[in-house]
Amino acid sequence: MIVWSLNNYLGLANHPEIRKTDAEAAAQYGLATPMGARMMSGNTSQHELLEKKLAEFEGKEDAILLNYGYQGMVSLIDVLCSRHDVIVYDAESHACIIDGVRLHPGHRYVFKHNDMEDFEKQLQRAAHLIDKQKSGGILVITEGVFGMAGDQGKLKEITALKNKYEFRLLVDDAHGFGTLGKTGAGAGEAQGVQDQVDLYFSTFAKSMASIGAFVAGPKNIIDYIRYNIRSQIFAKSLPMPLVIGNLKRLELLITRPEMKQKLWDNATKLQNGLKERGFDIGNTDSVVTPVYMKGGVEEATAMVMDLRENYGIFCSIVVYPVIPKGHIIYRLIPTATHTDEDIKATLNAFEVTKKKLDAGEYKVAAIPHMAEA
Ligand SMILES: Cc1ncc(COP(=O)(O)O)c(C=O)c1O
Repeated sequence: MIVWSLNNYLGLANHPEIRKTDAEAAAQYGLATPMGARMMSGNTSQHELLEKKLAEFEGKEDAILLNYGYQGMVSLIDVLCSRHDVIVYDAESHACIIDGVRLHPGHRYVFKHNDMEDFEKQLQRAAHLIDKQKSGGILVITEGVFGMAGDQGKLKEITALKNKYEFRLLVDDAHGFGTLGKTGAGAGEAQGVQDQVDLYFSTFAKSMASIGAFVAGPKNIIDYIRYNIRSQIFAKSLPMPLVIGNLKRLELLITRPEMKQKLWDNATKLQNGLKERGFDIGNTDSVVTPVYMKGGVEEATAMVMDLRENYGIFCSIVVYPVIPKGHIIYRLIPTATHTDEDIKATLNAFEVTKKKLDAGEYKVAAIPHMAEA
């Protein structure tokens, strides 16, 4: 099966050096160690080393590990904001941001996705409120790369407004970490404004094909987070095999730029191939490759089943109610391990199945493969 739905951008999941490191760390420590929260008995020099290396890589003073991206972000928003603070965030933010904002006891203003006019309007509302309250600050939250459509957050434009308004910026760069920028440091590096990103957050679940997350930023803020973030204080710390495995992944991510290059070669071939065949891939400016089509939910289901069972291609779709009725989005995630043959076979299968979709051939109750059987 050719799979386009794996969070494994750089192909590290089955890299022999990674498999070896993971296995050796598990053999040495088991899954139990450490057996407490970071602040109790769960701190080790390896946890601290990983944080130091992440901070260095992201050009920040310090970093703190989080056990998961989703849970870490929810708790991060909680720890950063008091009820006097105001959050301004992008409407298409990932669920972890939305859910963190939901728990915020103070005000929040949402701006239309990547719409800088609306962003400034919401900033003005936030600034006005802070002025009136005479306390609190503004936290702006957006993403480095929006994981569904693949478009980058407008970090350059957002940070440019720091001259005019006082706010801090938190960026979730789950899809940019390891894939964007000269060194792979992410969307901030790619847009030349990494130093203006106050808090840089990423999960290890995408480029590193692992578990865990981190946030990097100024030492005083990271220190404050370290001693106050509930998801880490009231939870066991990351197990040793993950910490050691993530150290190795970070080392390869930094020292083997050819992996990122191969990822981009594959993404470019896939995206160009789709465009040449007349597919609409929207405004992606990352390796995330959405393909927009029109059709009902049943048609979409029959089409992915046809692709999987009869063409050996697996990819996830997004349909109603996540997006409006009558629309289908295929979300293809290229990796460094896809081959030219995989890309060619996928482009050919997409061409054939799209023709079938347009001809109404998937408007059947039965799934094609099942019907044949
Ligand atoms: C933008 C973004 N933030 C956070 C997460 C959650 O990370 P984790 O899987 O480590 O919980 C994801 C996806 O998994 C994501 O795409």
